[in-house]
Amino acid sequence: MSAVEKDFDNIKKSLAEFADEIKGKNFLVSGGAGFIGSWFCESLVSMGGRVTCVDNLSSGSLENIKHVEGNKLFKFVKSDIEKFDAGDKFDFIVHMASIASPPLYQKFPIQTLDSGVVGIKKMLELAVKNKVKGFLFTSTSEVYGNPPEDMVPTPETYYGYVNSYGPRSMYDESKRCAEAYCYSYWKQFSVPVRIARIFNTYGPKLDVKNPTGYGRALIKFVCLALENKPINMYGDGNQTRSFCYITDQVIGLIKLLLTKGIDGEVVNIGSEEEVSINKLITSVIKLANSSSKIIVSEPSYDITDDPRRRKADVTKAKKLLGWRAEVKLADGLNKTIDWAKETR
Ligand SMILES: NC(=O)c1ccc[n+]([C@@H]2O[C@H](COP(=O)([O-])OP(=O)(O)OC[C@H]3O[C@@H](n4cnc5c(N)ncnc54)[C@H](O)[C@@H]3O)[C@@H](O)[C@H]2O)c1
Repeated sequence: MSAVEKDFDNIKKSLAEFADEIKGKNFLVSGGAGFIGSWFCESLVSMGGRVTCVDNLSSGSLENIKHVEGNKLFKFVKSDIEKFDAGDKFDFIVHMASIASPPLYQKFPIQTLDSGVVGIKKMLELAVKNKVKGFLFTSTSEVYGNPPEDMVPTPETYYGYVNSYGPRSMYDESKRCAEAYCYSYWKQFSVPVRIARIFNTYGPKLDVKNPTGYGRALIKFVCLALENKPINMYGDGNQTRSFCYITDQVIGLIKLLLTKGIDGEVVNIGSEEEVSINKLITSVIKLANSSSKIIVSEPSYDITDDPRRRKADVTKAKKLLGWRAEVKLADGLNKTIDWAKETR
């Protein structure tokens, strides 16, 4: 069994209590050919769920979903979510489609906004029409903006310190607007919404073919380390993030979608292991046995309003879902490095 197959096995075991809820049900997943979406879809299919994945492949790929393509439980529709025309009936709807990396959303700001304004409305309307049992929206820790020190770790009750007019606003405000749509459809039409505020997530299936163009920091560091090339670090490297391994993330998201009695809840899904970017790069270099050197350089995109610290407060996830991130950063990095070695 490969390491990725073992990861899927682990996801299945962790979700055993939801097996009956998944088997034979119809799921609509927007953004399902992306990094998190493809793990999410494949996990549901492996447990007998029928999944329709809608994706315009702007940052996702057919490569990500190659293991489920051809499976009779899986259907792929290439479409912008804003234009998607659903003929089928769905039990659960998940809205993940979004442009999620800073260089890309700064390049396509209008499309980024549309997913949280036009796309979310389309999906919520479908939820009303289908009388779904659960609706999951993947929001982000970016709705917290740049929190003050006493708000790190950051709980769901923190309202955020966010710039509505700046180089991150198309992403942050798109997510905040989408959350407001979810709240409104829950209140007005009783759509059983659940919102995941996702913190940085990593693992196999991050884009290794074009890591430097895509701008996901962690996979960029891994690929450069494997080539023994210099690794650019922006700023002083003391900015922190908490990185959640993909299996933990998917288990948290599926639990949030399927747990009963939590309609309308907003839940952080992220790691509690905070690490500085400097330390992260150093660890990647060490674990990859690399001779790469760290170079302090000017960023290739606008990092104004970049948050200083990110650490998830997952008290609520523990209480409502019995969930916390289990995979230690060093273990997840080792798995990601091994996968990148084989896949590049
Ligand atoms: N990965 C993270 O660290 C992270 C952190 C916080 C939040 N999130 C959220 O989780 C979700 C998934 O993120 P990801 O890391 O898998 O990103 P991703 O870029 O790999 O996946 C997003 C997918 O959405 C698709 N897409 C984008 N706009 C679309 C549109 N208008 N119509 C149809 N498809 C569209 C892309 O092609 C891609 O396949 C996103 O909503 C993102 O905002 C991710």
